[in-house]
Amino acid sequence: MTTESQVPGADELQVSEAQIAVHWKEEQLYYPPPKFIGQANAADPAIRERFSEDKFPECFKEYADLLTWDQYWHTTLDTSNPPFWRWFVGGKLNASYNCVDRHVRTRPNQAALVFVPEPEDQETVVVTYRELYRRVNETAAMLRDFCGLKAGDRVTLHMPMVPELPVLMLACARLGVIHSQVFAGFSGAACGGRIADSQSRVLITMDGYYRNGDLLDHKVKADEAVERAKQEGQEVDKVLVYRRHSGQYSSKTPMVQGRDVFVDEVMPDYRGKLVDPVSLPAEAPLFIMYSSGTTGRPKGCQHSIGGYLAYVTGTSKYYQDIHPEDTYWCAADIGWITGHSYIVYGPLSLGTTSVVYEGVPTYPDPGRPWRIAERLGVNIFHTAPTTIRMLRKVGPTEPKKYDYHFKHMTTVGEPIEPDVWRWYYEVVGKGEAVIVDTWWQTENGGFLCSTLPGLEPMKPGSAGPGVLGIYPVIYDENGEEVPKGSGRAGNICIRNPWPGIFQTIWGDPDRFVKTYYEKYNKDPKSTDWRDWPYFSNDGATQAPDGYYRILGRVDDVINVAGHRLGTKELESASVLVEEVAEAAAVPVVDELRGRAVEMYISLKPGVTATNVEEKVAKVIETEIGKVARPKNVWIVPDMPKTRSGKIMRRVIAGISNFTDVGDITTLANPEVVEEIRSHVQSVKEARGDVPKTLTEKEAEEIKAFGQVD
Ligand code: PRX
Repeated sequence: MTTESQVPGADELQVSEAQIAVHWKEEQLYYPPPKFIGQANAADPAIRERFSEDKFPECFKEYADLLTWDQYWHTTLDTSNPPFWRWFVGGKLNASYNCVDRHVRTRPNQAALVFVPEPEDQETVVVTYRELYRRVNETAAMLRDFCGLKAGDRVTLHMPMVPELPVLMLACARLGVIHSQVFAGFSGAACGGRIADSQSRVLITMDGYYRNGDLLDHKVKADEAVERAKQEGQEVDKVLVYRRHSGQYSSKTPMVQGRDVFVDEVMPDYRGKLVDPVSLPAEAPLFIMYSSGTTGRPKGCQHSIGGYLAYVTGTSKYYQDIHPEDTYWCAADIGWITGHSYIVYGPLSLGTTSVVYEGVPTYPDPGRPWRIAERLGVNIFHTAPTTIRMLRKVGPTEPKKYDYHFKHMTTVGEPIEPDVWRWYYEVVGKGEAVIVDTWWQTENGGFLCSTLPGLEPMKPGSAGPGVLGIYPVIYDENGEEVPKGSGRAGNICIRNPWPGIFQTIWGDPDRFVKTYYEKYNKDPKSTDWRDWPYFSNDGATQAPDGYYRILGRVDDVINVAGHRLGTKELESASVLVEEVAEAAAVPVVDELRGRAVEMYISLKPGVTATNVEEKVAKVIETEIGKVARPKNVWIVPDMPKTRSGKIMRRVIAGISNFTDVGDITTLANPEVVEEIRSHVQSVKEARGDVPKTLTEKEAEEIKAFGQVD
């Protein structure tokens, strides 16, 4: 069914230096199967026309019209205070109404959520749209009447992957309460920092959840979080604790009198209560989602109700190809933006069935995801390269054993190697499913680059062109445009605003402007959006066919299994260890996780180190979470530094990855390099921990890491 062809114009490609550097190799194109095209939401090529640049910004009316508005908007895009764009101005709506109420009339008994617990002997839970409506209303009544929350207040959720999480988000949305869900895998301290930053008075959590066969104690993190928030100046007066098994407490941590309450003891008071959805301005905030950046503090990305919901609904329809009758499974965590946009808001706004799986995909064996797909009749599947690599490694032929059929699959979060892409296509998708490689970020609300699944061919390892209404451009460091289709690397930016873009960094508008707009802004006084390209902080190349290939972060962010970790966050955690004088975090290429973290530590003079490596690993776990645990911690006599005292991360990154450390003549202490190299590499060799030979692209990334000279 699949036709394959060479990329048009590939042989005319001019060979540039950067192109050699990233070792651009054109891949074959794969065309969508006719069966898919026959049912695709976007099957008419005229759709590209409708979103062409001359139709901007009015083209986004098509997305806004997928929503139900209480009051229709009068201005599509207001650019009067750049880059604080306002979309669908004058409009009023409620996100909970759009994701729940409007479907109760048309399909009350259809499953909205299907919850699959990790233990396979526990029953799957189906939540119909009618049941979702009841639960969202009762929860909203509890938040309003028991917690005293109202529109504009913030509430921090530290919930695992259970159906109560989307119910809570929608209950907040019903009231206009701004939710800030913190990934459950993050530590209590990380959660506490986010409580303080968002000034939440209420924390909502769960006693425990299943992960890899264990029922983890999660409530313990709530106590740490409240303590940390207090240290940072924010009092929490209520902690609501859901119980994973109703009526049975699964945590060893005591409940704190007067502060902690079990939700299953309070909720009966609100049984059957209905709460009118609050009609809110399109540009009122819907939620905050924290993400790592270059400097220490995570950034609270604030997303709007109208623009965000319109954008995730539109992209879910055309790029995820969601129809109400589909069974859609996005195996991301709702604690990340992918889960917010493409497990909860987009799919539910379209009235489909969205699967929520509690645990790890390989538990109890690598056949698990395919059993879930077979049993539930999942036909749209969405995951990250790190999961695909893992599933291929532990169960390369497992998918063949199960009778499921995907029409559509997504990859998101990291670059996917063409080889891994092909396994996903051939084995997981059985050659029947289209794949969309979707490039975007927490800040963006929804996809930025991908292929229209029924209309545009796929190219392994390339995200594709800008999605509908998104016009990317690649700039070099000096703000010059890198010629289109030249295959030369540069910084990928988006020339125009779009409805899903975040509105600001919570509490820090200056940082918002500085991080994303200052670099390529052409005139700070201009109210013309053309002068305000959005700087993504990612490197990319564009092939002659217009497809973008994302190379990864150009700032000091390490992408571990799709989780963004800031080097500054890792380093400031490490220096909390008494004996540590200085710390530097670098990425090391990792077969499964894409990148892993290695820490280099120098000690305060005169201290005798006992077990500092473990202390550093532990403090990173406590401050950030287990996802950030370094693969290795190296104690070095001194950090390689420039004469102005800056740590040359690229040098130690080169050592960790067994690549060329580059020019060290500008260092103040070049002699230390060989000392570090021989120590680190001999230990790694002895442990059999030598990374495979890096591709040229990977080697380039390491060489450029944390470049300060
Ligand atoms: O470097 C890019 C990488 O992940 C970063 C965004 O991470 P986060 O905000 O956590 O959001 C992840 C899910 C949207 C980007 O700056 N990234 C994301 N998607 C891709 C990607 N790299 C390559 N290909 C992708 N499809």
